[in-house]
Amino acid sequence: MTFTIAIDGPAAAGKGTVAKRVAAHFGFAHLDTGLLYRATGRRMLDGLEPVEAARGLGAADLEADALRTPEVAQAASRVAALPEVRAALVDFQRAFARRAGGAVLDGRDIGTVICPEAEVKLYVTATDDVRAARRHAELCAKGMDLTLEEVLSDLQQRDARDSARATAPLKAAEDAVLLDTSEMSIEQAVAVALRVTAERLAGQG
Ligand code: C5P
Repeated sequence: MTFTIAIDGPAAAGKGTVAKRVAAHFGFAHLDTGLLYRATGRRMLDGLEPVEAARGLGAADLEADALRTPEVAQAASRVAALPEVRAALVDFQRAFARRAGGAVLDGRDIGTVICPEAEVKLYVTATDDVRAARRHAELCAKGMDLTLEEVLSDLQQRDARDSARATAPLKAAEDAVLLDTSEMSIEQAVAVALRVTAERLAGQG
């Protein structure tokens, strides 16, 4: 069985948490596609040319924790605007999306470019202030010393760059279900995603 759940939206909207929980619930594989761009950005900061950095990515580059800094996030969003970088990462993501047994991918262009045929598309969003507060708490819990203003400014700069780029900009697919999590708990957001997916699975059977 192939069954793809595409979860897109701006930075820190809750996509990752929803994606992980939905994948665990249905026993699907999960890919955080932001990690591919973060790892490419990290390698660029280390001196590699961005397209080479994307082409040469290996599993060890995707080790998550060192990639979760605003500096790497900014580098990710800069390399993500380069069409050749995106092209280098397409095949891996498409194959992952259509692997047997079901897949959940979260990112910016999953429902629009990587897998327009996805069985479920969600566009997860929240107000800037809510997203910044959540990300700030997350980074502080990891021991990073950042102000709320710095986190807000990182998110806003990336969203602006991600939305304005010519190739695969951040936007909701026309057939995506919109999920505004500003006033929702994680449990509520996950519940909506589970319900939408269960309905689609039932419709297929
Ligand atoms: O999701 P995350 O915040 O980790 O993504 C980091 C950056 O990677 C984003 O700001 C965006 O520029 C880029 N990205 C992308 N397309 C994706 C996933 C992430 O352009 N599918």
